Amino acid sequence: MTDAPAGQAAGANRGAPAERARARQWRGLIEEYRDRLPVDSGTPVVTLREGGTPLVASEGLSQLTGCRVWLKFEGANPTGSFKDRGMTLAISKAVQAGAKAVLCASTGNTSASAAAYAAKAGLVCGVLIPRGKIALGKLAQALVHGATVIQVEGNFDRALDICRTLDEKHPVRLVNSVNPDRIAGQKTGAFEVCDFLGSAPDVHVMPVGNAGNITAYWAGYREYFADGVADRLPVMHGFQAAGGGADRQRRRRRVAVDDRDGDQIGNPASWTFATAAAEESGGSIRAVTDRDILKAYRLVAREGVFCEMASAASVAGLLQLSAAGHLPTGATVVCVLTGHGLKEPDWALAGAAQPPVIPPDVDAAAELLGLAG
Ligand code: F0G
Repeated sequence: MTDAPAGQAAGANRGAPAERARARQWRGLIEEYRDRLPVDSGTPVVTLREGGTPLVASEGLSQLTGCRVWLKFEGANPTGSFKDRGMTLAISKAVQAGAKAVLCASTGNTSASAAAYAAKAGLVCGVLIPRGKIALGKLAQALVHGATVIQVEGNFDRALDICRTLDEKHPVRLVNSVNPDRIAGQKTGAFEVCDFLGSAPDVHVMPVGNAGNITAYWAGYREYFADGVADRLPVMHGFQAAGGGADRQRRRRRVAVDDRDGDQIGNPASWTFATAAAEESGGSIRAVTDRDILKAYRLVAREGVFCEMASAASVAGLLQLSAAGHLPTGATVVCVLTGHGLKEPDWALAGAAQPPVIPPDVDAAAELLGLAG
């Protein structure tokens, strides 16, 4: 098969432009960061070309905070969340170890990602979700990729407990973020930020749920700093929706973010690492309210970035830090937006008016668009 466009006459160099174009394509994060990941020449690379996600400059948030704010949009990963970074490695290593089945507990994004990568690798995938509490888009992903989905009467923490026990007793591989390959894959997010900015940002802000991702980013930043690739370490701030591990005593939430979201976990598995990351870097882990998360979600949407509700905890956190005077003026700040808004469009629709209906008439459309003279 040739890479030349159909109909192109055979010529001496016809393959060259295609090869150059292909060389510019992102290869997936295992190939891009092979020397920094626990893989060897025998590791079968299971990839959907994850990573390489955009770091988008936010003029609006920069103006609001007096900082240079960047949004790391992880919703641009193949299954629409940052989980793909860890999953490409976890599934590749599972295949290398001869696993035939993988298992995870999930509030939705992990299961979507595990199901997709397991399908790519031809592995059986089992998913335990809290009953009735995962967004429709995420459930659809797990199902369409052929995972066996089981609903557990209880929250995410209970589902994870069951998975851990199954992992001990049966020949399945757990691919939750307690699996170190997940963390190793996810640390590439920090590499990409540094590669793009030329060093680490001054401040890094992100949502925290089970606390795997903040652990991973901190590991990534430390690795680049230790190797002299980055000349500084960022201050790390993690934000949980009120009601999560940062705020366990709080009364039941009423407003926007409910238990479906990734950052509603009462007993985060990597909590010790997460608090260490925050403390070592001079940062913090705090709670943000549902109302503030919703506001942040709408703010970034008005700049063209459609993120998942739980993701916007980072931007809500940024605004909280700014209001409290915790952000140095002119600082470079990166906010991670962990997932894509299309996974749960009901939040977007809830805030919008029903589009009006008109007859097929130009004047009626012009009138409603404010174009009529
Ligand atoms: N943001 C989103 C969109 C998530 O889905 C999650 C976690 C987090 C943030 C928190 O990341 O756990 O590494 O601190 N979702 C998990 C899941 C728990 O099952 O999909 P963390």
